[in-house]
Amino acid sequence: MKDNIILIGFMGCGKTSVGIRLSYQLKRTMIDTDKWIEQKQKMTVSEIFDAYGEENFRAMETQCLKELLKTTEHQIISVGGGLPMREENHELLKQLGTVYYLKVSPQTVYERLKTDTTRPLLQVENPKERIQSLMELRSPVYEKCADRIIDVSEKSVEEILEQIEKGESI
Ligand code: S3P
Repeated sequence: MKDNIILIGFMGCGKTSVGIRLSYQLKRTMIDTDKWIEQKQKMTVSEIFDAYGEENFRAMETQCLKELLKTTEHQIISVGGGLPMREENHELLKQLGTVYYLKVSPQTVYERLKTDTTRPLLQVENPKERIQSLMELRSPVYEKCADRIIDVSEKSVEEILEQIEKGESI
């Protein structure tokens, strides 16, 4: 297994902000699978969903993990919220490093993302309901993939970092 730190969790759980701070603190580079795909495709995630559909985006996520497995060591990797839902990604995540699941409440996600327009899955009439149902489906999968679970609802980034550090000496 590689020694990357992998952050998984629902959209809006704070993977990016926690990842950036961790990266600064631990002097490790941070990679974001959405950004990696966007750079490769020269399109935003929303444009990819529009042009190619969700399934093709999911295939790009798997391809991204396979590439990262070949090239990365000792980095922070933040992965898109839906990536762990593909069964074949579980083994790839496991080989890639230690998986931290940032667990968040649906309420917090809704408050954070109610005006966001960059997440195609939440551009629906009732985003609250969509968050709730997606989370019910995804939570057990995130838990299954995780080496560590960090409850992040109503916590500051500092508190989250402290909790991550207490849980394991990284
Ligand atoms: C998605 C989460 C997004 C992005 C895409 C799909 C999802 O990433 O990959 O919009 O299915 O939960 P973030 O979790 O970084 O928002």
